[in-house]
Amino acid sequence: MVERSEMRAADRSHLPYSAAFSLATATVMRRVVAALLILGLTHAVDRQKFKTCDQSGFCKRHRAVKEPTGYEVISDSIKVNETGLAAKIKNKDLTLKLSIVTLKDSTVRVLIEEDEKALRNRYQPLDALVKREPEQQKIKKTKEEASATKILTTDGNRVVLIHKPFRVDFYVKDKIVSSINSAGLLHFEAFKKKVLLSDREKGFWEETFKEIKDTKPHGSSSIGVDIAFVGAKYLFGIPEHAEGYSLRDTKSYEPYRLYNLDVFEYETNSPMALYGSIPYLVGQTTADKGKLSKEVLDADTKPRDVPQQNARFISEAGVIDIFIMLGPQPNDIFRQLSELTGNAPLPPEFALGYHQSRWNYKDQKDVKEVHEGFIKNEIPLDVIWLDIDHTDGKAYFTWDKAAFPNPSGMIEELAEKNRKLVTIVDPHIKKEAKYHIYKEAKAKKLLATRSTSTSLTPKLVNIGRSSLLFDKYTNTSKDVFIWNDMNEPSVFDGPEVTIHKDAKHVDGWEHREVHNVYGFHQHEATFAGLKKRSNDEVRPFVLSRSFFAGSQRTAAVWTGDNKADWGHLRHSIPMLLSLGTAGMPFVGADVGGFFGDPDEELLVRWYQAGAFQPFFRGHSHQDSKRREPWLFSQNTTDAIREAIKKRYAFLPYWYTLFYEHTKTGKPVMRPFWLEFIEDESSWDEDRQWMVGPALLVKPVQEPGATQISTYLPGKRQVWFEWDTHKARPSPGAVQNPAGLHSIGLYQRGGTMIPVFADVKMTTKENHEQPIILYIALNNKGDFANGTIYLDDGESYAYEKGDFAYWGITFKKEHDYLHTITNKNLDKRGTFDSDVYIEKIVIRGAKFYPRTAHIYLDDFTPDPLDFEYDRDNFLMEIEAPNGYITREFRIDLHS
Ligand SMILES: *[C@@H]1O[C@H](CO)[C@@H](O)[C@H](O)[C@H]1NC(C)=O
Ligand SMILES: *[C@@H]1O[C@H](CO)[C@@H](O)[C@H](O)[C@H]1NC(C)=O
Ligand SMILES: *[C@@H]1O[C@H](CO)[C@@H](O)[C@H](O)[C@H]1NC(C)=O
Ligand SMILES: *[C@@H]1O[C@H](CO)[C@@H](O)[C@H](O)[C@H]1NC(C)=O
Repeated sequence: MVERSEMRAADRSHLPYSAAFSLATATVMRRVVAALLILGLTHAVDRQKFKTCDQSGFCKRHRAVKEPTGYEVISDSIKVNETGLAAKIKNKDLTLKLSIVTLKDSTVRVLIEEDEKALRNRYQPLDALVKREPEQQKIKKTKEEASATKILTTDGNRVVLIHKPFRVDFYVKDKIVSSINSAGLLHFEAFKKKVLLSDREKGFWEETFKEIKDTKPHGSSSIGVDIAFVGAKYLFGIPEHAEGYSLRDTKSYEPYRLYNLDVFEYETNSPMALYGSIPYLVGQTTADKGKLSKEVLDADTKPRDVPQQNARFISEAGVIDIFIMLGPQPNDIFRQLSELTGNAPLPPEFALGYHQSRWNYKDQKDVKEVHEGFIKNEIPLDVIWLDIDHTDGKAYFTWDKAAFPNPSGMIEELAEKNRKLVTIVDPHIKKEAKYHIYKEAKAKKLLATRSTSTSLTPKLVNIGRSSLLFDKYTNTSKDVFIWNDMNEPSVFDGPEVTIHKDAKHVDGWEHREVHNVYGFHQHEATFAGLKKRSNDEVRPFVLSRSFFAGSQRTAAVWTGDNKADWGHLRHSIPMLLSLGTAGMPFVGADVGGFFGDPDEELLVRWYQAGAFQPFFRGHSHQDSKRREPWLFSQNTTDAIREAIKKRYAFLPYWYTLFYEHTKTGKPVMRPFWLEFIEDESSWDEDRQWMVGPALLVKPVQEPGATQISTYLPGKRQVWFEWDTHKARPSPGAVQNPAGLHSIGLYQRGGTMIPVFADVKMTTKENHEQPIILYIALNNKGDFANGTIYLDDGESYAYEKGDFAYWGITFKKEHDYLHTITNKNLDKRGTFDSDVYIEKIVIRGAKFYPRTAHIYLDDFTPDPLDFEYDRDNFLMEIEAPNGYITREFRIDLHS
């Protein structure tokens, strides 16, 4: 293993990035670095219920592998073709098949599997991919030598297969950035005939945990390999863990576990598995002192004198299927990942509003009172949620007739005020002869066997889909959307609160093989069902607790059953950043904390943070006190209202960012490294984040705070305090008083943010409201730009051209003339709306304007009124008469 070495300040303008994505469903990840950070633990979690690596046979066996396992490439086995190569590798025990295939856009796939003699097939979760066979790319050149086979890709990267010992190195230009099996720890357990007694002792053929035996009818079939990120100072990714954003050293610590589990009252600062798993890691490469190689195919393959992060993926089943994405820039990494696992589709606009949930709103009267409470207290709200008790004895897709005698009427009342209802659908199918879902699943033999409760299997998706049609899910309407909870799946009396690993699913797969895609298949079916329900016209909204790579295509997720304490508020930030990094943009944490009772201060601060996170929902446990925003002192209610209103004000920006995500794969809630590659000290920041490229957020995260200290990243940039317009240089820290209504909010110089001029009670009512453009000039005061996206907010018409994507640019033309222009960025979009610009605010305007004119279609200038504040360099143009979806130019003469 390589220790982290000294960093050096150098030109970091073209830092290569790389990412590894491993496609296996049950994974444990271990990494080895020099840095250590272990914070205190809280003890609410019942840790006894869950296995540690040591209590899990396969994990323990892999972790015991500390010396190279001796794999080498069989020299005459290499077959190079147009897109890659196939070869065989062997050590003293085993021969394996290797394939290396180059994919388009600087991505390489490395697959290691058993050869033809395998006793059994291995499961591959290919549904996680957008295309089960990702597009291959032709190789530019190959060079076969005795000791190595070298591939030069069309994108100019290199893949070097070292024959002995077996290793695969990846180069961006002439720099090695990643290496598979560099520590030689590749360990592969082939399926065997059951003979050896000694294996039984090590847990190869069976193991028992908490008195539940895993019978392992096929024995063990685990796999593991190490991957080095050469030059990387940090690793990010592998959600979901309640940890800091930058992954920690696990050399003398539990490995990060990826096994979807329902962890009751999960603790923070823990590598324990949580509800979802995305086996995806990003390593950022910093400047280095490495020697440059002379010839492009003849790279120096020795590790350079740079920091390195070593990771090791260990999986209980499956094949080694690794996608290496070579960046090199942050934008490239997000595009490359989305090429493989897809993007989140554009959500319906209401889903970006505020959601009010509780376990449980107990009856129709309760729902009505909550609904009216928001109206009476003038707090915006888009959705009310119903948890499990609304059903007829937990049979999903039914109603408790006593508590909800008239669901249609209730839904109609909400709809009249432009509000939606979300109901819960867990994967557990009530075992009751008369329950229509159970009857159908049973008849079609689709239930998992051996688990104590019957459960959804991947093939049950068809029933799941049609269950959402109005004739099956009666007394619902197009205003009802779905929440898939407990879909790890959670089984209270099962091993580790889930299904037995040796339970059988359709097609003979063992639960251990498909466990981590269980929730994925449920929410995918739910999404498909909602889409079908509307004849493919209305965009679905599905929230899922469990997830896997690719889940973003059909679900939003939240961080599950968090707690009403400050630690959980703080951890919501790195947890959501990790999810975004791994390709899931539509994410949130329960505001206020699910378990327990937040005090008023914590609740206010949580609303302030949640208002700037992608999915914004207040939710609470049945044993917690009611906490609708008006149940507190006036100051608290006021502060919550203000936070929610801020969310609604920024909706045009949020919606534009979600649209842009569908084009770029970039998350909407962003870590600093995505935006400020030049500022290395900000890369692991996880108390602050960016909303898109332009807005920096630092909510208060400690009780009794009197100051908000915000770090402003970047080099030679300027930032503007949102409320005061005050300019601040970066990099540097800024202090502001932490009044009850305060949150650290800064606009980055050089950007434009569209904001609603006035906030209505729902996203629908806000939909056509006028906009204020906040233009923050760059450091030189000569440029700023930004975008705005509009459509109908709910249908798929935008896919056929009913959208508008426009760009606003502020530019210095010469010393006496600055202009603001509005241009259509995508001419395929023909959506024409009446949304007009009520005001333009220009921050950092040092050009002393004398006159302003607008040129509309007819190109005769109309004079504009404006105000100019010389002390704060602030220019405000009232009623400029421009429309978002029409071209204009404004001339500012000085
Ligand atoms: C090249 O070989 C690899 C490994 O066998 C295979 O996956 C790939 O499809 C082959 N490419 C072509 C163009 O046949
Ligand atoms: C819902 O609709 C069905 C069929 O239209 C009806 O029989 C039932 O009583 C309704 N009410 C509830 C609460 O399910
Ligand atoms: C609002 O004021 C009340 C009464 O003065 C106080 O108890 C409460 O903590 C305040 N709320 C917050 C969030 O500071
Ligand atoms: C905004 O300006 C930057 C810097 O010139 C440019 O890279 C980007 O494409 C512009 N965006 C739009 C939407 O015009």
